[in-house]
Amino acid sequence: MTDEFGMVDPTEAESFGDEWEEIDVSDTDADRIARQRDRDFDEFRKRIKDNERLKVEQSVFDDATYAAIYKLVQDGYVSAFGGPVSTGKEANVYEALGADDREVAIKIYRINASDFRQMREYLEGDPRFRGIGNDKGKTVLAWTKKEFANLERAAAAGVRVPEPIAVQRNVLVMELVGQADDRARRLAEVTVENPQTAYEVVREYMRRLYSAGLVHGDLSEYNLIIHDGELVVIDLGQAVTVHHPNAGDFLDRDCENVASFFNRQGLTVEASNLHEFVTTADPTP
Ligand SMILES: Nc1ncnc2c1ncn2[C@@H]1O[C@H](COP(=O)(O)OP(=O)(O)OP(=O)(O)O)[C@@H](O)[C@H]1O
Ligand SMILES: [Mg+2]
Repeated sequence: MTDEFGMVDPTEAESFGDEWEEIDVSDTDADRIARQRDRDFDEFRKRIKDNERLKVEQSVFDDATYAAIYKLVQDGYVSAFGGPVSTGKEANVYEALGADDREVAIKIYRINASDFRQMREYLEGDPRFRGIGNDKGKTVLAWTKKEFANLERAAAAGVRVPEPIAVQRNVLVMELVGQADDRARRLAEVTVENPQTAYEVVREYMRRLYSAGLVHGDLSEYNLIIHDGELVVIDLGQAVTVHHPNAGDFLDRDCENVASFFNRQGLTVEASNLHEFVTTADPTP
């Protein structure tokens, strides 16, 4: 394939089954820290609460979220917070410094703001999440772990995604694509220089994801970012396994969104052809 748009090679080919990932949603270190609330944690929480950069609207975190950040700091994954990158419906994304002063992105799911009912629709029917029950906190926790697992799965299949670094409760640390002062842009925000090549890369990533047993489920020009000519697939929280009862509908929708975007870029793309491509294994091994 082409180097343009930074197509990466798959590093690992493994078969998948329904059992491929077990997600543990039992009590976390962060929950214990939040319960114990010792002096160090209280001081940390106060510092974080007073941090101007974290003050984005509607971002009042609960104690367990502060505890998750505290644990990530203690474990060396985060050393300092930068500003917000994005405030979405369900999650905020921040820039931060990680280990060895590497810039990282931190995605914090807001337990209270999350559309819990919608999350359940994606989790129910996903064999990895059997037996989560009705607990809202556990659902968000499972969701965050799912995004981490999906990122790992996608990367192993040769899909360019942000490298997952750590997950703690509802907080996910990953590679920051681009730099704090030169941020990656959504495909929706840029003029695509070579739409044909970009389309071929997206199409191939969709196929690799599918071959690895995953359907993105929210793929569009808003969840594809670009930096230095490299296309990166993001936001895999809702991605489901191909065995999910709604996987077919999700894939249809992804194909329609992607086809519609590239048609607006001047290509002639049929969603049905894209679907055919994605679900047909690559003949060259
Ligand atoms: N690893 C990353 N590197 C650089 N930018 C990122 C990264 N992850 C997320 N972003 C930025 O943050 C935005 C929101 O991230 P994401 O799509 O994962 O969250 P979301 O919950 O879907 O938010 P929204 O509801 O706004 O779509 C992205 O559109 C992108 O601009
Ligand atoms: Mg998004």
